[in-house]
Amino acid sequence: MQIEILTLFPEMFPGLLSSSILKRAIERELVEVNIHNIRDYTHNKHHTVDDTPYGGGAGMLLKPEPIFEAVETIKSGLSPEECPLPVILLTPQGRLFSQKIALELTRYRRLILICGHYEGIDERVAEHLVTDEISIGDYVLSGGELAAMVVTDAVVRLVPGVLGSEASAADDSHTTGLLEYPQYTRPPVYRDWAVPEVLLSGNHAQVAKWRQQQAITRTLERRPELLIKANLSPAERRLAEELQKG
Ligand SMILES: C[S@@+](CC[C@H](N)C(=O)[O-])C[C@H]1O[C@@H](n2cnc3c(N)ncnc32)[C@H](O)[C@@H]1O
Repeated sequence: MQIEILTLFPEMFPGLLSSSILKRAIERELVEVNIHNIRDYTHNKHHTVDDTPYGGGAGMLLKPEPIFEAVETIKSGLSPEECPLPVILLTPQGRLFSQKIALELTRYRRLILICGHYEGIDERVAEHLVTDEISIGDYVLSGGELAAMVVTDAVVRLVPGVLGSEASAADDSHTTGLLEYPQYTRPPVYRDWAVPEVLLSGNHAQVAKWRQQQAITRTLERRPELLIKANLSPAERRLAEELQKG
């Protein structure tokens, strides 16, 4: 998969791309992440990328021309199999990002992510260039860079082969619709706090049952609204109903 990120602040990305799972995915050529400086697509002497909003108001807006040019340049080099590809604007006005959307995005061979800044972006970018608008939460960031990093990280770890067996995504919170069960590692007792005995028993069936119960209980306690939409087996659904009754 290739992820093309358009930004005014390319210097924000090397840390993300040179650490941990993303670094390994790039080294193993499972993923390629290209950072494009929007300023490189300007034609004026001062490389101006922003201007004041028509009608007045505070702040500056990103101009449409360099963003259209950057996207069109990236698209011009693509093979027919790679088109159409999602052109995603990171914006607090977009659909709320989720594990489901991350999984949906792994179906594409290439994604384009556009990071806004300042007061926002000329609306013609949303109207005529982008195919999707994503928000990472109901709050306002200074720029789309952190949002693009969140989307990139969440998508890349779902690309087949990226996570080794040591970190499977199957039980992760939000994958099945449930929060993940609690986990423990050595030592078995720390400051008088013991690891639940069943986890030390070596009985795989019992461990699986305990984890299933814990995942349901935890979801009920912390995010009960998730249970309604969760993809539960009939047994899990019965268990959820019993636990709900108390
Ligand atoms: C200061 S914000 C602009 C907010 C805009 N004036 C509004 O009210 O919708 C600047 C940029 O940060 C990014 N951004 C801010 N909050 C975001 C969020 N919750 N999710 C995704 N991107 C966000 C967007 O790219 C946005 O263009």
